[in-house]
Amino acid sequence: MTEQIPSKVDMDKLVSLCKRRGFIFPSSEIYGGLGAFYDYGPLGVELKNNVKKAWWKASVQDRDDMVGLDASILMHPQTWVASGHVEGFADPLVECKQCHQRWRADHVKDGKCPACGGELTEPRMFNLMFKTFVGPVEDETSLVYLRPETAQGIFVNFQNVLNSTRRKLPFGIAQIGKSFRNEITTGNFIFRMREFEQMEIEYFVKPGTDEQWFKHWVEQRFNWYSNLGIKRENLRLRQHEKDELAHYARDCFDIEYLFPIGWSELEGVANRTDFDLKQHSKYSGKDLSYFDEDTKEHIMPYVIEPSAGVDRSVLAFLADSYDEEKDKEGLRVILRLHYALAPIKVAVLPLSRNEKLLPLSKEVYDNLRSCWMVQYDDAQSIGRRYRRQDEIGTPFCVTIDFQSLEDRQVTIRERDKMRQIRVPIDVLRATLEAKLCGEPFEILPPGARKWLGFE
Ligand code: GAP
Repeated sequence: MTEQIPSKVDMDKLVSLCKRRGFIFPSSEIYGGLGAFYDYGPLGVELKNNVKKAWWKASVQDRDDMVGLDASILMHPQTWVASGHVEGFADPLVECKQCHQRWRADHVKDGKCPACGGELTEPRMFNLMFKTFVGPVEDETSLVYLRPETAQGIFVNFQNVLNSTRRKLPFGIAQIGKSFRNEITTGNFIFRMREFEQMEIEYFVKPGTDEQWFKHWVEQRFNWYSNLGIKRENLRLRQHEKDELAHYARDCFDIEYLFPIGWSELEGVANRTDFDLKQHSKYSGKDLSYFDEDTKEHIMPYVIEPSAGVDRSVLAFLADSYDEEKDKEGLRVILRLHYALAPIKVAVLPLSRNEKLLPLSKEVYDNLRSCWMVQYDDAQSIGRRYRRQDEIGTPFCVTIDFQSLEDRQVTIRERDKMRQIRVPIDVLRATLEAKLCGEPFEILPPGARKWLGFE
């Protein structure tokens, strides 16, 4: 249950911006939508890909002790017996006797229906896994589940990865992919969906070193969010109480974010012990132990699992970067997204639609688009176009004016403080590259100067 401390950002504003500007749409909307399924639009897919890219870079590319994996969504059904999901991946479901709406019992406050106040049935356990069938016959023998977490795809491949990469402990396997849960309580936009994406790491360590690695990963993952711009005051760690721990976990910290719905889980980091490898050894009959060359012993590694949601991260990055400023034209809405996450890095804006500006503007656009996602926009006033880019988080706008035709210089305007510099086209790409990598905007390239036009 989320703690009801309101964040400064209104969920309705975010939902409306996401729809209006093409970040996120309700799924199959023309048919009335489907509960808790969402589609990512042109800007949303860029943002989401950038979140995944940043995670993959930090979790795999920048580390010597990690490798990647992409396992299939449908797995052998025994996987979910071994993992405990068939038996225990269930929530308590209650139904209103009056309006027949269904709720998760632990999400209902005073035992009454949150919609109409009616009396509720006794809770019954409801398994959250979606079922389907492999092959033409639909019976018990062809039953499979859509994976409710990506983690098990990693555990069942532990020996494959070990044998093919000759890794030594400690090492980890990272995976990004879709997961499916037939959630009972939904309705908080992309916070809780029935089809969502996870970014999971299973980090295998020698027993006895697990606590030290657990601390390491809690810290790493907390810093990942704040390094990507999430304000420290909107992030916190919460250790699970003993009676709250999942059946496989010895310890668990939630990284919580102050979402528009209150403080809620963004990511969980758990010490899963040797539970999963032991279970899969038992159910598959295959030895999943690790041979320690130093001690000449077979050991069952312990596992530290940082498990993040892509969609919850997207929601946190959107909520945290959303800002409004009063200005002479009314309200400036800004997404102050980290540059690495911004869907569009640069907008190319000719000062007007005058055809004399077209060739140079296209030249600049073609030059930049080979490096980044770049938008070309020549519709409406320059002020309106700057506002449009601010609202989608574009870090830089490049403006081509009539003087540019004479001196081959253009204006770069930055999103956050609306400062502007005038730079030669020859150094434009290198300048933008440096700024996108974090060089302070005040540092001017050769031949550039401060500029006070166009706002
Ligand atoms: N393998 C461990 C595991 O799956 P979890 O706490 O159930 O743990 C991990 O899920 C993360 O996945 C959560 O912190 C959240 O970010 C994301 N997640 C879980 N269920 C979700 C849902 N229904 N919609 C969106 N994200 C979800």
